Amino acid sequence: MSRVTLHDASFEPFISEEELNTAIAHVAGTIALKYADKDPLFVVVLNGAYHFAARLLNGLPIACGITFVKVASYHGTSSTGKVTGLIGLDQNVEGRHVVVVEDIVDTGNTLEHIMATLAPMRPASVAVATMLFKPDAYRKDIPVDHIALRIPDHFVVGSGLDHDGAGRNLPGVYRITQQ
Ligand code: XMP
Ligand code: MG
Repeated sequence: MSRVTLHDASFEPFISEEELNTAIAHVAGTIALKYADKDPLFVVVLNGAYHFAARLLNGLPIACGITFVKVASYHGTSSTGKVTGLIGLDQNVEGRHVVVVEDIVDTGNTLEHIMATLAPMRPASVAVATMLFKPDAYRKDIPVDHIALRIPDHFVVGSGLDHDGAGRNLPGVYRITQQ
């Protein structure tokens, strides 16, 4: 791994592909045990979680469903301000054990909105699996159940994570260089 420049910013190697894969395999093992015979529904949050989802779910030795959503974030016409919803949820989640699959949980704002959207759909349970978690940035009480790796509060790219559209395809994870 060597330094990369994406748009205006420079990034340095931070987590190797191997380290990431080992951590993801560990999460997969935990989830396989916890959800054996529960037929969970994995709700993968695009775009960034595609890499983690493929690594986590390919070959997972349990019956499960996998579906993909996007988080829509827009400003409503009323005074409600920012409105967030899930686009593309094509499965009935009622009575299902849902696992939200995220690339990264930072402040937790996005996760809070996703949870608030899913709760009225009456799932049997909702848990979260994330590739990366920034404990120092997290501002919510929602438990983040399955974490591959905890990282400091640095902006990172690679393995699905992008800087303004660039860098998603980088293997491993890179962090922004402090100038
Ligand atoms: P939170 O948890 O703050 O995260 O709602 C919101 C979204 O911000 C993105 N995010 C990042 N993207 N590198 C990225 O490429 C990062 O370090 C980073 N931190 C947050 C991500 O889309 C997350 O879902
Ligand atoms: Mg994201």
